[in-house]
Amino acid sequence: MEKPKVLLYGVLLLQFLCSLHFAVSSANSNFTDQSALLAIQSKLTFDPTKTVLGGNWTTTTSFCNWIGVSCSKQRQRVTALNLSYMGLQGTIFPHVGNLSSLVSLDLRNNSFIGLLPHEISRLPRLRILVLQENELEGNIPPTLYQCRQLEIISLAANRLNGLIPKELGLLPRLQQLYLAKNSLMSGEIPSSLGNISTLKRLSLDQCGLTGSFPSALLNLSSLVAISLYDKNISGFLPIDICDNHWPNVQIFSVSYNKFSGLIPSWIHQCAQLVTLSLSYNSLVGSIPREIGSLQYLEELYLDGNNLTGTIPPTIGNITNLKYLGVELNNIQGSIPPELGRLSNLTSLLFSSNGLTGVLPPQIFNISSLKKLAGSNNALSGELPNSSNTVHLPNLESFQFSNNHITGNIPSYFSNFTSLF
Ligand SMILES: *[C@@H]1O[C@H](CO)[C@@H](O)[C@H](O)[C@H]1NC(C)=O
Ligand SMILES: *[C@@H]1O[C@H](CO)[C@@H](O)[C@H](O)[C@H]1NC(C)=O
Ligand SMILES: *[C@@H]1O[C@H](CO)[C@@H](O)[C@H](O)[C@H]1NC(C)=O
Ligand SMILES: *[C@@H]1O[C@H](CO)[C@@H](O)[C@H](O)[C@H]1NC(C)=O
Ligand SMILES: *[C@@H]1O[C@H](CO)[C@@H](O)[C@H](O)[C@H]1NC(C)=O
Ligand SMILES: *[C@@H]1O[C@H](CO)[C@@H](O)[C@H](O)[C@H]1NC(C)=O
Ligand SMILES: *[C@@H]1O[C@H](CO)[C@@H](O)[C@H](O)[C@H]1NC(C)=O
Ligand SMILES: *[C@@H]1O[C@H](CO)[C@@H](O)[C@H](O)[C@H]1NC(C)=O
Ligand SMILES: *[C@@H]1O[C@H](CO)[C@@H](O)[C@H](O)[C@H]1NC(C)=O
Ligand SMILES: *[C@@H]1O[C@H](CO)[C@@H](O)[C@H](O)[C@H]1NC(C)=O
Ligand SMILES: *[C@@H]1O[C@H](CO)[C@@H](O)[C@H](O)[C@H]1NC(C)=O
Ligand SMILES: *[C@@H]1O[C@H](CO)[C@@H](O)[C@H](O)[C@H]1NC(C)=O
Repeated sequence: MEKPKVLLYGVLLLQFLCSLHFAVSSANSNFTDQSALLAIQSKLTFDPTKTVLGGNWTTTTSFCNWIGVSCSKQRQRVTALNLSYMGLQGTIFPHVGNLSSLVSLDLRNNSFIGLLPHEISRLPRLRILVLQENELEGNIPPTLYQCRQLEIISLAANRLNGLIPKELGLLPRLQQLYLAKNSLMSGEIPSSLGNISTLKRLSLDQCGLTGSFPSALLNLSSLVAISLYDKNISGFLPIDICDNHWPNVQIFSVSYNKFSGLIPSWIHQCAQLVTLSLSYNSLVGSIPREIGSLQYLEELYLDGNNLTGTIPPTIGNITNLKYLGVELNNIQGSIPPELGRLSNLTSLLFSSNGLTGVLPPQIFNISSLKKLAGSNNALSGELPNSSNTVHLPNLESFQFSNNHITGNIPSYFSNFTSLF
């Protein structure tokens, strides 16, 4: 009968020790939080609104009431730090890694300089890391993968350099990865990113990347938006992306690279596409007529390639289209009058091609148009001369120099601000 008693006392003692430890560590922890916040404050060199330096960030007030700080209700631990849009200058102190309950860190749009402290990797609950629009330097810490809960990483518009760490492919919950506008970065897109099955948005614009489009990215079946305006990524565009791989993709932007080959014939299978941006690559061949079935498409950028063939009249079926750009290609034939059906179009740009024929009068009735540009073609005939058939109340720019257009400039042109 002795043994159970000993066991019971043992358990009680253990419970007592645990609760004692809990109380001590809780007090310790919020003390640690306070010293971490004070350390972060101490590294600020300028605070134009005097919110953090000179505001209520003082120990006479509980840190949970400091502006920008949010705490958990019960344990009084810092869960969110949001010092965005404050014009702050300084460095990010490594003590940020001591805010061990932190879920969200948002320092966007300030002037933080120096390194992105790798101590951030010690934050096991971090879900949101937004440091975009600062002046941070150095590498993206590969250890960031240790923050297993990360859902959003935005480091865009800084001065980071080095490679995209392949370890980011180990983040099991990542949904949004924004690294755009860090032009000093280099290397290829790591194929490990294709392992993040939760990834919805990937933005790697202006990151100085090279190499080709990693086929591993086709495994990202949750993908909604991918954007790679990057100068130096080459090879063919992937085949068959929507039917089998990215059924929900809405934004596919790969402009300003060196992609070659045809405009992929799969493109019409991407039924959800809103933005298709393929401009300034080395694409050849003609614009597939099937593109006209993309009913949600609002922006179609095909400028600056080496496209041939004609403008498919089916584009006139894309009634949501707002932007159509096919400038600087070798497109022939005439402007299809069907484009006149695009009642939401604001920009219709087809300068510098080999287009011929008369400008269809239907174009002059797209009342939403702001920019109409067709310079450097072989267009002929006269402009509509009666203002009854012309309804362009929003037109800001009309460019048709270097064509064979004849006749007088119609009087209604006195309404337009920028001509020929
Ligand atoms: C720190 O924790 C202790 C014990 O839980 C609590 O009494 C105290 O108010 C907390 N301090 C702050 C600044 O939140
Ligand atoms: C600290 O300042 C912010 C903004 O001025 C205010 O919302 C907050 O209530 C202040 N906290 C205390 C304890 O005064
Ligand atoms: C931080 O605050 C800004 C401005 O109030 C807000 O727009 C932003 O959503 C906040 N960040 C987070 C992660 O909640
Ligand atoms: C907090 O972090 C810094 C730097 O990472 C470290 O030196 C310090 O010991 C940590 N602990 C406390 C309680 O500040
Ligand atoms: C960020 O801040 C700068 C000034 O510090 C401002 O000019 C810019 O518009 C801001 N960006 C955004 C997206 O708010
Ligand atoms: C993707 O994950 C699998 C399984 O964890 C692993 O074997 C593979 O190496 C990863 N691929 C890349 C490119 O990292
Ligand atoms: C996609 O993932 C599967 C396993 O999950 C892997 O076998 C395959 O190689 C991956 N595809 C690409 C193109 O990486
Ligand atoms: C493009 O990549 C090649 C090598 O792959 C390199 O020599 C060249 O400098 C890069 N150009 C730009 C504009 O980054
Ligand atoms: C377009 O293609 C023609 C014929 O294939 C070629 O001569 C020309 O250099 C190409 N232009 C561009 C800008 O790639
Ligand atoms: C699309 O446009 C073409 C040519 O204008 C027309 O023949 C075709 O019937 C249209 N398709 C749909 C689905 O509206
Ligand atoms: C055009 O734009 C309006 C308002 O932005 C929108 O309600 C409408 O659905 C769009 N599409 C067409 C075909 O008019
Ligand atoms: C030109 O401006 C007048 C007065 O603002 C307007 O009544 C007329 O409809 C405009 N004409 C065209 C073709 O936009």
